[in-house]
Amino acid sequence: MASPDVTKTNSPKGLDEKSSSKSSQAYLLEQGRNLIYQLYASLKTAQIYERSNLAYVKQSESLFNLVKGLLEKEEKIILSSKEGYLFLNETRLKFGFEGYLSSKFILEIFRKVQFESLFVSPEATKEELDELVSLLAHANYDCDDPFGRLERKAADLGLQHIKLEKFAEEWEIGDEASPENRKKVAKKRFFKTLSVAQEVVESAKTGRSINTVKSKRAIQFLIDQLIHDEINFMSLTAIKNFDEYTFAHSVNVCILSVALGSRLGLSKKELSELGYAALFHDIGKVRIPLAILNKPDELDECEWKEMRKHPILGVKALLSTRALDKFSLRAMVVAFEHHLKLDLSGYPQLLFKKDLNLYSRIVTVADVYDSMTSGRVYAKVPLTPDVALKRMMEQIGRGFDPLLLKVFINMLGIYPVGSVVLLNTGEVGVVMKSNPDELSRPEMAIIADRKGKKDKIELVDLASIDEKTGEYKRTVIKTIEPRPYKLDIARYIY
Ligand SMILES: [Fe+2]
Ligand SMILES: [Fe+2]
Repeated sequence: MASPDVTKTNSPKGLDEKSSSKSSQAYLLEQGRNLIYQLYASLKTAQIYERSNLAYVKQSESLFNLVKGLLEKEEKIILSSKEGYLFLNETRLKFGFEGYLSSKFILEIFRKVQFESLFVSPEATKEELDELVSLLAHANYDCDDPFGRLERKAADLGLQHIKLEKFAEEWEIGDEASPENRKKVAKKRFFKTLSVAQEVVESAKTGRSINTVKSKRAIQFLIDQLIHDEINFMSLTAIKNFDEYTFAHSVNVCILSVALGSRLGLSKKELSELGYAALFHDIGKVRIPLAILNKPDELDECEWKEMRKHPILGVKALLSTRALDKFSLRAMVVAFEHHLKLDLSGYPQLLFKKDLNLYSRIVTVADVYDSMTSGRVYAKVPLTPDVALKRMMEQIGRGFDPLLLKVFINMLGIYPVGSVVLLNTGEVGVVMKSNPDELSRPEMAIIADRKGKKDKIELVDLASIDEKTGEYKRTVIKTIEPRPYKLDIARYIY
């Protein structure tokens, strides 16, 4: 007698799961298309007819049945719009000619009301679905906050099992936001910018033109939030992700440059141009062979020659942007000049004397600092933030604009975020937040006491005074090298 399990045992491991996930994807794809079409038909009908009209009743019933059917198979429905595509429970919906109109209409509703996702849970009633359709069909897009208005109306109507989530890009950090939320938003924005940088690098690699609109939007949001929450953003630059070095480095240089530019009093528009230029300063590196970029040892003369081409290659890559506007032109100047020192030594070699652009001088400071603290290019091992700043001070005037460097150091504090320090109490701490009023007294996490490691991290403020003695509770003695202690600094900061 043949075993009933023969086929199962003979099939390669994971095949069943794969084919079932494939069929579930196909199901979602098909039902997703139907859902979009039905939603479109219901919204259109709701815009014309009263709820009691037979045409409306029919559409409303079809929509409810479709949703109910879907919820019998799926735990919930999440319909979302990301980067111009519609998704049903993470499955991207693709539309042919027949679905073009309906999908475009629904995407437009998402965009105008400024929401990213629509959640429907299994308990949702037909009445709730009707209310949602009516709200979306008659939403006022011309007001300041269409999403907020819609959300309030939905709450008034008591929609409990249908929820809308706002576009992540629209998140703002209000002054009243809790520190935790501010940190979360800063982090989200940082990684979003990182992914835009990644996309840009990918398209430059394959020779496609760079999407300037998307990058400008990402920078705009970054700047808006940076103005609100500079400290949290600057602490994010302590992330040194070696696998994605070029992206993380580009975003770090962007954040540090914009923060420095804002200290210098640049306008919001100027900061946008500066941020854009900073994000693309190393774009020419996409044309340098990976073997050279990732070489763990010193580069030989021939490899250096290749590496020194990246400023000019950057200009070429930026020339292929879709729209050659002020942003791209500024970015080209910065890409070309960011390895030129104040005395015009460095590269590329110039045939004539010229003054370096202010944006280039700003980006150079941020670039060298981030590279030094990442242990790439300028030093094989990462330097601690304070040592990097000291090294840069040694080159003041010749290498860097003295004023810019001084403002930069003042901005980061004597002990920048991520510095590891030894305190007069014998404890070891990692700087978490600089203190603009007292540069030598930042906030930090105590990670080890006199005897060694601590089980629990303690957060302290070096500006706090011991009430009994009237003296500071803790003071920094010196900075220490984190590597011998195998400390993963990022772990303490995030
Ligand atoms: Fe560079
Ligand atoms: Fe760089």
